[in-house]
Amino acid sequence: MKRVLTYGTFDLLHYGHIRLLKRAKELGDYLIVALSTDEFNSIKGKKAYHSYETRKKMLEAIRYVDLVIPEENWEQKINDIKEYKVDITVMGGDWKGSDKFEYLRNYCELIYLDRTEGISTTQIKKALKLQDAVNGLEQIPEPGSKKT
Ligand code: CTP
Repeated sequence: MKRVLTYGTFDLLHYGHIRLLKRAKELGDYLIVALSTDEFNSIKGKKAYHSYETRKKMLEAIRYVDLVIPEENWEQKINDIKEYKVDITVMGGDWKGSDKFEYLRNYCELIYLDRTEGISTTQIKKALKLQDAVNGLEQIPEPGSKKT
């Protein structure tokens, strides 16, 4: 059985995440997601909208995901690979060549998958903020029209 491992925050689950998980699962038979904890995110200067527990439940509901484990620090990866007998670590292309992952080639296969263009959690958060601002604005009347 080929075991695949990937890392991430997976907040505000979107189509880019699903595509990544689907392709990761297709590389093997068993997909493990190491999910960044809220504490680890705060070390990275990141804050998720959904708590770790909520993000974990959402990932567990996805058919491609077999197991969710916590990602608590940068150093745990070799241990994860050994403990879960991982054959392939998969990351999105935004991590290509990163020294956070490249050394894992000594322990398992390392594959970067292309990111899905045009979507990210950060982008969704920005868009919602913008929508909120637009909703709060009075609609600008056509020039010359009388105010009703
Ligand atoms: N990912 C992807 N395509 C996207 C967005 C994410 O393939 N459009 C992948 C990332 O490369 C990573 C995994 O999904 O391997 C989890 O990414 P994460 O950082 O949690 O998601 P993002 O939407 O990129 O979040 P953020 O904007 O906060 O970085």
